[in-house]
Amino acid sequence: MRTKIVAGNWKMNKTFSDAEELLTEIAEKIEDINLEGIEIIVCPPSLYLELATDVAEESKFAVGAQNVNENPKGAFTGEISVEMLDSVGVDYSIIGHSERRTYYKETNEQLAKKVDACLEGSISPIFCFGEVLEEREANKHFEVVKQQLEESLFHLKEAEMENVVLAYEPVWAIGTGKTASPEQAQEIHAFVRKTLADKYGQALADKISILYGGSCNPKNAKELFANPDVDGGLIGGASLKAEDFVSIVKSF
Ligand code: PGA
Repeated sequence: MRTKIVAGNWKMNKTFSDAEELLTEIAEKIEDINLEGIEIIVCPPSLYLELATDVAEESKFAVGAQNVNENPKGAFTGEISVEMLDSVGVDYSIIGHSERRTYYKETNEQLAKKVDACLEGSISPIFCFGEVLEEREANKHFEVVKQQLEESLFHLKEAEMENVVLAYEPVWAIGTGKTASPEQAQEIHAFVRKTLADKYGQALADKISILYGGSCNPKNAKELFANPDVDGGLIGGASLKAEDFVSIVKSF
């Protein structure tokens, strides 16, 4: 059985006290839920990672960063390394979110280096990929997704690939309220699993969790997660309220 995952990407939201409150509320609300086979990951802004790992120590969620630098250390003002994340108990990092690809011009090649840096440390990358609207309208989404996977991940050895979480996030669905239909999500998730199987074999492809992200909320999560190749969600807006986030966790 693949691990089911719900990851919350807070993006650039919340003050320190808001963050404290949200983390505490999440911890309280998940206390009595049976989380067998389910991993909850909270990805706050980097400033609050240590706070999050402190709360997580007494709770049942893991903590992820939203980004990491590909270099091990040194003169990279404003950046954070894998070793630093590891030193405060962070287990995951989102890599290649579409906002980073768009606003900070992160390329597939650079993302391959970030993935390597994570795996050389002990951080599991949550690798995001997905097409923009024009690509979908031109029926190029399969091609685009395949290229993103090939250029950033397919240099990995099997044992490394096993530690990667995938997140399909169609860019047209992020923060827009426009969700991919369950059929659209399943279609591309199945395609991704097949692409993984062609490269690494079916056994490994069957082990990798593929999350859906893009306007996933308490109303649509159940239908999305019911698909055989959708193993959970990467949640933006709806992860900012404990009630909504935990209600998504309960959608499996
Ligand atoms: P959204 O964001 O849920 O607000 O659409 C998802 C994401 O960007 O990871």
